[in-house]
Amino acid sequence: MMFFLSSAVAAVPAFSPIQVKPAPAVPPETVVSGVRSWPDDGRFEAAVARGSYQHPRLSGITFDLESSVVSGRPGTEQAGSGPLLHALGASAVVFFGRRGPRGVALRCPTRDLGIGAARRYEKLAARRAASAPLALAVAEAEWIDEGVEIDGTWWPVIVMERVEGRSLAGEVEQVLGKNPAGLRGLARDWAGFVAVLGAADVAHGDLQQNNIFVTGDGRLKAVDLDGVWLPAVAHLPPDETGHRHYQHPRRQRGDWGRTVDTFSALVIYLSLVALAADPDLWERYHNGENLVFTDEDLAHPDRTPLWDRLSSSPDPAVRQLVPLLRELCHGPADSGQDLASLLDRHRHARTEGLVRPASLTRTTEHDDVNHWWVDPEAPRPDPDAVWFAPSETDGATTLHEYGRTAADSRTDEDGGTVDGGGASSNMPRVLVLAAAVFVVVFIGALVGFLTVLGP
Ligand SMILES: Nc1ncnc2c1ncn2[C@@H]1O[C@H](COP(=O)(O)OP(=O)(O)O)[C@@H](O)[C@H]1O
Ligand SMILES: [Mg+2]
Repeated sequence: MMFFLSSAVAAVPAFSPIQVKPAPAVPPETVVSGVRSWPDDGRFEAAVARGSYQHPRLSGITFDLESSVVSGRPGTEQAGSGPLLHALGASAVVFFGRRGPRGVALRCPTRDLGIGAARRYEKLAARRAASAPLALAVAEAEWIDEGVEIDGTWWPVIVMERVEGRSLAGEVEQVLGKNPAGLRGLARDWAGFVAVLGAADVAHGDLQQNNIFVTGDGRLKAVDLDGVWLPAVAHLPPDETGHRHYQHPRRQRGDWGRTVDTFSALVIYLSLVALAADPDLWERYHNGENLVFTDEDLAHPDRTPLWDRLSSSPDPAVRQLVPLLRELCHGPADSGQDLASLLDRHRHARTEGLVRPASLTRTTEHDDVNHWWVDPEAPRPDPDAVWFAPSETDGATTLHEYGRTAADSRTDEDGGTVDGGGASSNMPRVLVLAAAVFVVVFIGALVGFLTVLGP
């Protein structure tokens, strides 16, 4: 689910991905049309602050309080005053604390997560226990049915390992400020992280910048596990479809399976390599809830300025990945492939000239001016179909080697469409046309000749 305060989180210093919101007035619990309404963050905060829980997993936790500034004087921050330290998402409020040396996150859903939720968490815990790489990639989490008591009703909570580090967006911002090329390494790590989930037969379901942390030792780790897919719960889909700026434009609730993460994984992978090559993308396209793509871009492949900008990236690896994402946007919500095999197939298809040619049809509203076809530095397309040879890749990561092929249709600087099919594909058509013209002229001349000779 989306995190409401994502832009603010990205801006906070390292290792404190927390936002605090003043607690609202506490309304009494209500039942509307037989459906109980779930407590909001303020009611959970009041209950946690007064210790309205008794499960053994929750005993011995000391919850952190928000830092406060003494009498409005900057630089006088103190831990230990103010409300409970918490982060607020669209589906849950999360309180942070410690049990001894171990950080704890108490996640309290603020809406009904559906009948499958408890089982998904139970099965994920079992899968984590069986796979050490998965345990490193996904936060430990345990569902507790009777977690926090509010006005006589027990509400479920999820006790989690507190992941310390930066959100993915925060990390991107940090790396961009120091050494943008370092984002290539992050992209490589990202591909590795996605592969770990796949190898464990797990999909996250909502990969996005605030659900992924980069820990102090540089590892990627996922939180917000409400949408996790595992074979054992494949019949229990969650009632959410992930963050709109990361998901396939036509993803429905039923689009939830082993490869549900592939689309968002490619969105993130391409965003990272694109930012490494062109850091100004961040200023221009990051809106606090995305990296560079928005739902508008994903719903309109090739029809927004970002697509033009990426198609003219100084990095050939980026240009090669653009048609792949475009194809995914046009295709089904779940491609049925994982990221690694998708990239692999794309690379093979490109080198064998099998990939459907990319369309660069330009619309008049595009305002970017930097295009490969007007950039004297940029390589021109090869009329024999493959634009970028594998040797063009910079070698920073092998996954950068995935390519694009010739355009079957592209437009020139004036906006006019030109046939980009390439000389070789045009040749037979030209010959057929010439032969047809010759036959017509020949028959016409013959008829004329016979007419003149006629009686
Ligand atoms: N286990 C955790 N450790 C550290 N931070 C967490 C943890 N779980 C959640 N958070 C923080 O709280 C935010 C909101 O929690 P999340 O589970 O994503 O809720 P929602 O489903 O409503 O988006 C996350 O974006 C993240 O910043
Ligand atoms: Mg979230």
